[in-house]
Amino acid sequence: MHDRTRWDDRYRQGAYSQRPWPSDFLQQNIQALINKNGQSSGQALDLACGAGRNSVFLAQQGFITQGVDVSAVAIAKGAAYATKVGVKVGWVCQGLLAQSNTADPQAVAVNPNPIHEPVKDPINDFGQFQLIIMFRFVAPGLLTTLMDHLLPGGHLMVEEHLQHDLGEEIVGPRSPAFRVAPGALLAEVAASTQPYAVIEDFAGAVVEPSGDKAAVSRLWVQRLPG
Ligand SMILES: C[S@@+](CC[C@H](N)C(=O)[O-])C[C@H]1O[C@@H](n2cnc3c(N)ncnc32)[C@H](O)[C@@H]1O
Repeated sequence: MHDRTRWDDRYRQGAYSQRPWPSDFLQQNIQALINKNGQSSGQALDLACGAGRNSVFLAQQGFITQGVDVSAVAIAKGAAYATKVGVKVGWVCQGLLAQSNTADPQAVAVNPNPIHEPVKDPINDFGQFQLIIMFRFVAPGLLTTLMDHLLPGGHLMVEEHLQHDLGEEIVGPRSPAFRVAPGALLAEVAASTQPYAVIEDFAGAVVEPSGDKAAVSRLWVQRLPG
């Protein structure tokens, strides 16, 4: 099934409506990312933004924020949420995987597993950002490209479900295709030609605000000038 159809259905059925809070990883580190002079914190991009929990949070913190997601239903929910809390976010309904923008169901039927398709540069026209985040969406190879979309001094923050052997109580996707191996995120960034500094690189178990236990890989890097 096409990513858009599948995710539209999930959001129509109420996916993540019980999770309106922004990501812990983002909230814990936001003070290091914002401009404390009362000016805009710059342009931020939230990839696979879903119903906008993190996009709205970034807008509330003074970022000029764009959210991108394949699901029009998710984007509509995000837009309604932003209006409700009184912030402005730019929304783009677009796929980030090679096949996710095709309208041709045959092409999807031939390869129903687009997650393994190589990604070129799905945000080629978007320019550069002070902050790019991508939370809980696996797009192999994309981080290498994202480094070129950071302004010098800009930050990339990523959180993915982690492949683990921590037992059944860990929540999240069952398929390893939707999880990353330890070290995989940093390996993608290291394949970039851009100079960078690692600010945080974590892989392990965390307790979600809901009380659930998740296994996550978190990476926060800064593109260095030069
Ligand atoms: C687990 S949710 C995470 C949403 C959001 N980042 C968050 O942390 O709340 C995964 C998101 O990826 C989006 N997605 C799935 N396939 C996609 C694709 N090919 N291109 C862009 N977004 C996609 C889904 O619509 C969904 O919103």
